[in-house]
Amino acid sequence: MNKPSIQTETENQLPATVAIALIVVGAIAVIVFGIYQIQTSDPYIESVLATEGDPMRGHAIFQMNCAGCHGWRKDGRVGPSLEGVSERKSDKEIIHQVISGETPPMPQFQPKPQDMADLLSYLKKQ
Ligand code: HEC
Repeated sequence: MNKPSIQTETENQLPATVAIALIVVGAIAVIVFGIYQIQTSDPYIESVLATEGDPMRGHAIFQMNCAGCHGWRKDGRVGPSLEGVSERKSDKEIIHQVISGETPPMPQFQPKPQDMADLLSYLKKQ
């Protein structure tokens, strides 16, 4: 019979640290969700993903722009092998890798959405 009253007492005395922790966790969740929203609503990525890629064109684009570092057969030289890269990275991550220039010495590319879609379809082809 005593149990319920003990429970309500502890609930009323919810320590301030717990409340602060909840606010911090909530704020982090909002930030993470916000970043996720920005990433998923990137108009460039959206238009690439909505475009059907041609792996033959993609191969030609790859040989001109990427093969010097990633090898003639995606097998890697200065840059890592890109064989089966679509198993390690999502389409969005691959597009981001190509357009961001975040990992020197790999340069920042600005392919047209059609060219990026072609490249992506080539990279996904085993
Ligand atoms: C100057 C050399 C260079 C060129 C040119 C280059 N890359 Fe890269 N690339 C790199 C290097 C180095 C990395 C590894 C970066 C890291 O993670 O630190 C990389 C990483 C990548 C990755 C991630 C691989 C993984 O397993 O995580 C992808 C995808 C990629 N490159 C695609 C491309 C495409 C597509 C092109 C052509 C449009 C290209 N790269 C041109 C050097 C290059």
